[in-house]
Amino acid sequence: MVDHPADRAWIDVERYLSETLVKSDDALQQAVSSARQAEMPSIEVAPTAGKLLMLLARLSGARHVLEIGTLAGYSTIWLARGVPEDGTVTTLEFLGKHADVARSNVDRAGVGRKVTIRQGSALETLPLLEAEGAGPFDLVFIDADKVSNVAYLQWALRLSRPGGVIVLDNVVWNGTITDARNPDADVRGIRAALEFLGTDPRVESTAIQTVGSKGWDGFALAVIK
Ligand code: SAH
Ligand code: DHB
Ligand code: MG
Repeated sequence: MVDHPADRAWIDVERYLSETLVKSDDALQQAVSSARQAEMPSIEVAPTAGKLLMLLARLSGARHVLEIGTLAGYSTIWLARGVPEDGTVTTLEFLGKHADVARSNVDRAGVGRKVTIRQGSALETLPLLEAEGAGPFDLVFIDADKVSNVAYLQWALRLSRPGGVIVLDNVVWNGTITDARNPDADVRGIRAALEFLGTDPRVESTAIQTVGSKGWDGFALAVIK
């Protein structure tokens, strides 16, 4: 990642907003520290974004949430806090180690009964979910490998209800996404996903840039018509 002159100020602002508004707790802090302990990359959403996921679940009245990309379960905990007592979060994770750490984190956070972690490649798990009659989901958070973003969006549409919400993480990718000739597979996956969201008649979409502890990035937000 390229360093920007304002990085430190952006991180200071993020910390101030987090301390003032988000108010982390032991369960969330332990989810992050367990991830570092297990040498997972520091790519969970920032606290301010995590709480946004919870609030999006609340304001959309989501009862059933699908997450693609669990890591240590940090975003999973926020989403689970955003659904009612009898709500569910189904989260898909490729790596067994990540799924195991996430399991103990969601349990420790007291939201374990709401959360199902499905280990495996999401593109293999999603057809299984459909065959099992899972869903319809009210909110889908896509945050796994960027190459499969368009496929994940198509699955999100397939498994969601009208009015459902889709959140797609990492759509700015340090500003690389404006280069149509960039051959990087992640960049191409992100651009294809944004073009999909911009042209598919079934969704109404926007995206927001973010800066702070996770660098220069952003997320797309779509509502299914
Ligand atoms: N949503 C998490 C961060 C997820 S990081 C949070 O904010 O806390 C991305 C995760 O997606 C990693 O754990 C990675 O192992 C997982 N992943 C990558 N490719 C995947 C795939 N094909 N299927 C399922 N999970 C995948
Ligand atoms: C990466 C993945 C993410 O989901 C993220 O939020 C940041 C970085 C990555 O693979 O580098
Ligand atoms: Mg992400």
